[in-house]
Amino acid sequence: MTTELFQTAKSALINATKDVKHPFRYFTMATIGINNSPRLRTVVLRGTEEDLSLKIYTDKRSKKVTHIKENNNVCLLFFDHNEMLQLKIDGKAYLEQDEKILKKAWKQIREHAKKDYRTSQEPGSKIKDPEMIEYLDTSSHFAIIHIIPSKIEYLALKKDKHVRALFSKEGTNWEGNFLVP
Ligand SMILES: Cc1cc2nc3c(=O)[nH]c(=O)nc-3n(C[C@H](O)[C@H](O)[C@H](O)COP(=O)(O)O)c2cc1C
Repeated sequence: MTTELFQTAKSALINATKDVKHPFRYFTMATIGINNSPRLRTVVLRGTEEDLSLKIYTDKRSKKVTHIKENNNVCLLFFDHNEMLQLKIDGKAYLEQDEKILKKAWKQIREHAKKDYRTSQEPGSKIKDPEMIEYLDTSSHFAIIHIIPSKIEYLALKKDKHVRALFSKEGTNWEGNFLVP
């Protein structure tokens, strides 16, 4: 039954937000660039909701935010090397607009980690010396991106036979089908 596989995927995505050593804690997020070129980067999974919407933190000035503002289709790739399990998630990304939610999240970030979102120059700017980076005393560049999945593809490699399934969101339900691996 595909239901069991869906539950495995869901539990892993939830556990990865609680266990810092979980292989799904870090995943690859693809956005579509201005010239339609794909761009990948590693990000940290900060939250998984019951409806499987996912959350990451970033700097508003980063390329991924520019891309999402133009085209909010994203693709995410999770890989658990212990289970040989890959999840590929298609979805749409949204920037959190609620200042209260942003402020609450900012308060919970450890001081040294806040630096990731406080550089005086925007991320990706050329610099002469990495030791000379300056930081602003503001949270104004901190952003939360929510990703609402529409498709989840599950692939587990096994010695005897691999298992592949595609889950598609139909309204509020997820419909699953096995695929040829
Ligand atoms: C282990 C690891 C975790 C990362 N986590 C994040 C993250 O949660 N958010 C983020 O914006 N960038 C994160 N980065 C940096 C991104 O991979 C990327 O270099 C940066 O966000 C700029 O991407 P962009 O220019 O494509 O927007 C992480 C990098 C590594 C190596």
